[in-house]
Amino acid sequence: MAFRHFIDIWQLEASDLRAILDQAHAMKRARTGWPKGKVDADAPLAGHTLAMIFEKSSTRTRFSFDMAIRQLGGSSINATAADMQLGRGETVEDTARVLSRYVDAVMIRANSHEDVETFAEHASVPVINGLTDRSHPCQIMADLMTLEEHGLDLNGARLAWVGDGNNVCSSFMHAAPKFGFSLAVGTPARYAPDDEDVELARELQGRIDLYDTAEEAVLGADVVIADTFVSMGDADASARLAELDPYAVTTELMSLAKPSAKFLHCLPAHRGEEVDAEVIDGPQSVVFDEAENRLHVQKAILRWCCGK
Ligand code: CP
Ligand code: NVA
Repeated sequence: MAFRHFIDIWQLEASDLRAILDQAHAMKRARTGWPKGKVDADAPLAGHTLAMIFEKSSTRTRFSFDMAIRQLGGSSINATAADMQLGRGETVEDTARVLSRYVDAVMIRANSHEDVETFAEHASVPVINGLTDRSHPCQIMADLMTLEEHGLDLNGARLAWVGDGNNVCSSFMHAAPKFGFSLAVGTPARYAPDDEDVELARELQGRIDLYDTAEEAVLGADVVIADTFVSMGDADASARLAELDPYAVTTELMSLAKPSAKFLHCLPAHRGEEVDAEVIDGPQSVVFDEAENRLHVQKAILRWCCGK
């Protein structure tokens, strides 16, 4: 059977990414008003089982992937790495080979990006990156779907990322050349995005503008994006909170973006740290549409991965 992995946005064709978003919009529309547990009319992944492996905590990724495979007509098996022999030293390679004999696709949330790549190399079923220390591609696809739903043409749009230049920021950089938006990134030098990812995006003709302040980054932007200042696995929490405090998204900062600007945050959020409650709970915020769209876009990703 033909299958494809979904590991990082930079590796994928712009036309495939476009097709995934188009299918996600269409599938969402087609089931408007339906009970969430009802299977889609065409049940495209009937008989398919998705395994989900978590090395880190998750609310959205866990529930949205589980509901995604159910709506597609399939089923899921969910485990933490600690519950598996993986947590006792069985190799990633052997785990990939074995799970490929039982299930039709695997979604992994891992500490190390290299582990997801190794898993994919040794799997004979599709592997989906459900977040690593380096990237979070499913999240960005949901974010872009949400912006389109709210009327933004991504091609030529200006998106601004402020705070920590982390895994989610990297996936936005990977997506910039694929969808034709420019990304302004405002971070302190210590928490600037990964050089390799900046270069990668620029080599693909993506426009990435790096700034030292949040104010410069958001100026005239169509979208302002924040994420937690302390990601899962970050050790230096108090140093981060202190240094990143000037990068918090306040109503004052939002007023520097376009009046029509939308606010995105992948969640979980920390009100009073990276974003003020007035912003995330205010009229410019689309964060709950963004969270919902994880479900719809991951259904399209699962279908694309399984060739359905
Ligand atoms: N945004 C996101 O990936 O959320 P979870 O960590 O809850 O899965
Ligand atoms: N950057 C955050 C995203 C959580 C969904 C983290 O890696 O913890």
